Amino acid sequence: MRLTLLSIAASLLGACSGKTAFAPEPDVNGKYWIYGEGISAAFVPYGASISNLIIMDQHGIERDIVTGFDNASYYGIDKQHPHFGGVPGRYANRIKNSSFEIDGETYHVLANENPTHAHPNGLDTLHGGPDGWDWRNFSVVAYTTSSITFSIVDPDGKEGFPGEVVSFITYSLGKMTWDFKMVAIPTTKKTPIMLSSHTYWNLDGFANNKTQSALNHTFYLPYSGQRVEVDNILIPTGDIQANKRGSVNDFWSAPKQIGHSFTDPEIEGNCGFNCTGYDNCWLVNRGQDGAFDWRKDGFVARLQSAWSGIQVDVYTDQEAFQMYSCNGQNGSMALKTTQGIFDDPAFPRAIPQYGCIVLEVEDWIDGINQPQWQRGSKQIFEPGGDPYVLQASYRFSINSTATPP
Ligand SMILES: *[C@@H]1O[C@H](CO)[C@@H](O)[C@H](O)[C@H]1NC(C)=O
Ligand SMILES: *[C@@H]1O[C@H](CO)[C@@H](O)[C@H](O)[C@H]1NC(C)=O
Ligand SMILES: *[C@@H]1O[C@H](CO)[C@@H](O)[C@H](O)[C@H]1NC(C)=O
Ligand SMILES: *[C@@H]1O[C@H](CO)[C@@H](O)[C@H](O)[C@H]1NC(C)=O
Ligand SMILES: *[C@@H]1O[C@H](CO)[C@@H](O)[C@H](O)[C@H]1NC(C)=O
Ligand SMILES: *[C@@H]1O[C@H](CO)[C@@H](O)[C@H](O)[C@H]1NC(C)=O
Ligand SMILES: *[C@@H]1O[C@H](CO)[C@@H](O)[C@H](O)[C@H]1NC(C)=O
Ligand SMILES: *[C@@H]1O[C@H](CO)[C@@H](O)[C@H](O)[C@H]1NC(C)=O
Repeated sequence: MRLTLLSIAASLLGACSGKTAFAPEPDVNGKYWIYGEGISAAFVPYGASISNLIIMDQHGIERDIVTGFDNASYYGIDKQHPHFGGVPGRYANRIKNSSFEIDGETYHVLANENPTHAHPNGLDTLHGGPDGWDWRNFSVVAYTTSSITFSIVDPDGKEGFPGEVVSFITYSLGKMTWDFKMVAIPTTKKTPIMLSSHTYWNLDGFANNKTQSALNHTFYLPYSGQRVEVDNILIPTGDIQANKRGSVNDFWSAPKQIGHSFTDPEIEGNCGFNCTGYDNCWLVNRGQDGAFDWRKDGFVARLQSAWSGIQVDVYTDQEAFQMYSCNGQNGSMALKTTQGIFDDPAFPRAIPQYGCIVLEVEDWIDGINQPQWQRGSKQIFEPGGDPYVLQASYRFSINSTATPP
């Protein structure tokens, strides 16, 4: 029954794309390549992850601007599991106390973060649990020159979540664009669902010969005057905070470099206990401007590097945005062979602390434990109801004037 459903969906998707599959097989490294105009990208079934994204910089040199591994088989072997480019699911980010309530019933999911003596598995659940979606191989159900669709069937009870969920993730490339659509359908019970793309960016492909850090990347969140308040293990407290003009989390009043506020004492502890940097969830407040079309009416986030001139504008239908400044990297994760500088001891072939930026389009984190936020219809789904849908369009360009403070 399930196979039939999936193969019908796959053939429907194939028929709708109007294209014929050109290469049903991955390359020798297990990667599935797709192509657009001025852009190409590779994906692996593990976590439905993007593993390479290649565009030309302002000097006409191709740069691979996302982190990943050189081959598909290594994704399941690497012990650090940094969620490189994957789809966290079935519920992205953290779940307080690894529990939530639906219709008066309390559910417990598996903990996997912040272990203590009393709670050896952890105090909370991060990215769907110890065997969340980005630890599993998805199936490739459609593949053309410019798009790929992955699918996963997440069984009832897996990691403690109620009911089965069937999901399709479609990535496609256009003219200097990377678009994705994520759809998830609960088939048997009411359940929380929140997905995202957990892609790590270094817009210089770690080839910047002045710095391998991403602290000089410029970031802009024009609609994000507020953020979710978190405690010292990054669990939402339920309160919303103001990003006052000029404060460390102000990326709305003007674009600024990621490292700009690193001399402000408030940056210490900004991403949790003893953590300097960013790992925060900004709200996207755009309703006050009237009706909007998320595809046309302005990006919700912009990241740019003056060195490569590469700029990415993020368009999405989602109402929150997480940015993580790779505080946890420490130079122990190797670069891909497609990145970095070779044979220069000043530039080790590894990701330094603050060497990358994770951008995550999503909904308000842990909204399932903050009923007063009224995110129910965006986060809890039931059989027969609306499906979970996330859409985003990442639009690339060369902007050689990207040099704000
Ligand atoms: C696969 O990639 C990993 C890390 O990128 C590398 O260490 C390993 O040597 C590669 N294996 C093969 C067979 O290429
Ligand atoms: C996942 O896929 C990779 C190759 O893409 C393969 O090496 C690995 O064995 C698979 N893992 C499982 C659990 O099937
Ligand atoms: C946390 O979950 C445990 C069960 O795992 C439960 O006993 C406890 O009451 C919960 N604590 C809070 C503050 O919700
Ligand atoms: C550094 O990179 C820039 C941009 O690619 C290049 O023009 C310059 O020659 C490089 N400098 C050195 C010392 O390699
Ligand atoms: C890069 O960032 C550092 C600190 O974050 C700053 O001191 C420096 O001026 C920046 N460099 C450029 C070229 O913007
Ligand atoms: C704080 O972090 C630094 C390095 O990031 C580490 O050396 C130090 O031990 C940490 N302090 C505590 C109290 O955990
Ligand atoms: C770097 O981080 C990794 C993963 O968290 C850890 O295993 C390793 O011990 C760390 N290395 C150093 C030098 O701190
Ligand atoms: C290029 O970047 C600058 C600085 O952030 C910005 O003001 C300008 O609008 C950007 N140009 C385009 C075409 O996006």
